[in-house]
Amino acid sequence: MAYLDEYTKSIETPELFWAEKAQALDWFKQPQTILSKDENGIDRWFADGEMNTCHMALDYHVQAGRGDQVALYYDSPVTDTKKSYTYAELLEQVAQFAGVLKAQGVEKGDRVVIYMPMIPEAAIAMLATARLGAIHSVVFGGFAPNELAVRIDDAEPKVIVSASCGIEIQKVIPYKPMLDQAIELSAHKPEKCVIFQRPQVAAEMTTGRDLDWNEAMAEAAPAGCTPVAGTDPLYILYTSGTTGKPKGVVRDNGGHAVALRYSMKAIYDMDPGDVFWAASDVGWVVGHSYIVYAPLLSGLSTVFYEGKPVKTPDAGAFWRVCAEYGVKALFSAPTAFRAIRKEDPNSECLKAYDLSKLKYIFMAGERLDPPTYHWVKDTLGLPVVDHWWQTETGWAICGNLMGVEPKEPKPGSATLPSPGFDVQILDGKGNPVAANEQGNVAIKLPLPPSCLPTVWGDFERFRTGYLNIFEGYYVTGDGGYKDDDGYVFIMGRTDDVINVAGHRLSTGEMEEIVAKHPAVAECAVIGINDTLKGQQPVGLVLLKDGAEMDEAELEAELIAMVRKDIGAVACFKKAIVVQRLPKTRSGKILRKLLRQIADGEEYSIPSTIDDPGSLPEIADIMSSHGIKA
Ligand code: COA
Ligand code: AMP
Repeated sequence: MAYLDEYTKSIETPELFWAEKAQALDWFKQPQTILSKDENGIDRWFADGEMNTCHMALDYHVQAGRGDQVALYYDSPVTDTKKSYTYAELLEQVAQFAGVLKAQGVEKGDRVVIYMPMIPEAAIAMLATARLGAIHSVVFGGFAPNELAVRIDDAEPKVIVSASCGIEIQKVIPYKPMLDQAIELSAHKPEKCVIFQRPQVAAEMTTGRDLDWNEAMAEAAPAGCTPVAGTDPLYILYTSGTTGKPKGVVRDNGGHAVALRYSMKAIYDMDPGDVFWAASDVGWVVGHSYIVYAPLLSGLSTVFYEGKPVKTPDAGAFWRVCAEYGVKALFSAPTAFRAIRKEDPNSECLKAYDLSKLKYIFMAGERLDPPTYHWVKDTLGLPVVDHWWQTETGWAICGNLMGVEPKEPKPGSATLPSPGFDVQILDGKGNPVAANEQGNVAIKLPLPPSCLPTVWGDFERFRTGYLNIFEGYYVTGDGGYKDDDGYVFIMGRTDDVINVAGHRLSTGEMEEIVAKHPAVAECAVIGINDTLKGQQPVGLVLLKDGAEMDEAELEAELIAMVRKDIGAVACFKKAIVVQRLPKTRSGKILRKLLRQIADGEEYSIPSTIDDPGSLPEIADIMSSHGIKA
């Protein structure tokens, strides 16, 4: 009943519900206007509230007597480093770095791009930006210079913060040359770059533009918090859409703080002083919400981990960290647990660690397949909670609310809608479908706090991409169904977005790159099932008439092109030459059909197909390349 009460209140009286949740935070001026419309007609939360997210996350806790509690544990098996920061120490560092940014002219509303590995300085830079009322945009370290350049041009940062290198298991990856190259490629040039020099690589500095982190910190005067309105932006986080241009998801300050603070107890059952670990990267939304903001807004201790689930040094890495810091809840992507299971199927590594403090495992980022669910549940004997969300929402749209009323889980389902999310399954015309019938997963407006109010600099893209499809709804881009008990099952994207190792990527963007190869006439990139990473991209390529090229050579060139333009994270490792691509009579490539063939699923041949004979031929070529067909 507790869940039903909570959920019903949130849908029937949203303003009352969220006004009450907002009281958990230390506002400079409590909001009186809870829900209102902005100039674009979009629902906005807490417009007249005055606040600062960094104050709520740090200063408030120090003032309330939490200064000596650990705020952040940094654990880096790749550099053999462990370090912790109390709330008071983290506040000191953040205020100091805010002073560095302020000295470079960063003010409320300015953008700061952060391109950093998983070191505490990344969180310090994020919080310092928020402290000044400025807007950060963190770019994941696995993206190539070209991707970084696209984001620099879109966000137009005054300052970029980076580090000399990242470390991938044993590979040292110099970041600074990539940053320099990105700035060369971008039309917009930042005024300054602040570089954190790591001992593994010394970055070459550009005189007049680049500042050394430590030197700048030594000279700066600490900066206080700049008050912002609840609706002022806190950050922009770029995510893959269906085209080559990523979407700058905008997150506001007020709604974000309220929803995240609420979720930390309602969904994750965490109380102040508990230790929470989201094993992700600050470059992704999970890292923003659950490595940095939600744990700190809630007075928890967060774990900042620079390593992998396996090979740093072994498949016991997650268990070691949980035991060492007394982690109460661990959150990661299913792919991380599949990697552990692959290396240590009998969980031998687990035996060395005392996990008595660990109470919950949370998973998101991609569909939690039932075999992985069962393996983790059986291995740890703990509740395994699948929850579904997106960069656009910043927190879970559906989940099993451990802090409200745990429900009986159903493997394959993300359980029930979170309070505030009126989740509906709609057919192609926007009408609700019956239970157990698949359709488009949509959220009835208004969206709850924290969800995006626009795409940075492109409101039309927000309207056409999400809101105009079915009137009165936000369309998630995911397909799925609800069962008779209202449990939501998310089955996959309805667009050309794929999920590789929990990383969201655009096949459309990969197609644009592959199509640039001089020998390629046409191509389709599809995401096919992968037992480790969930999905893997595969390119199906049609050569230009007369183009004669060795297939292996072409594949190597295409792999290199995608790696150069998007980055290693794209995991584009397979390209196959085909003679024909199945298309509709109007010339649209039938990508869904190709995916179904590759995954060995049943499919029906659409009546609009131009050349049905191409299908068996494609199936044969795929199976000759080791793809199930
Ligand atoms: N900086 C630079 N390069 C990076 C990077 C970073 N921050 N993160 C990943 N890469 C590189 C990797 O080194 C790898 O390069 P390679 O092709 O030269 O080997 C490539 O990008 C692909 O990385 P990844 O998909 O992570 O594969 P992996 O084989 O290194 O690791 C897993 C596989 C499953 C262990 C890993 O993906 C993982 O831990 N996933 C957890 C999921 C997660 O964090 N999801 C985020 C949302 S919750
Ligand atoms: P991102 O914006 O990178 O968080 O990716 C969001 C997308 O990942 C969603 O639209 C889904 O397609 C997928 N996703 C995230 N979590 C889940 C989940 N628990 N179950 C199924 N798909 C998920």
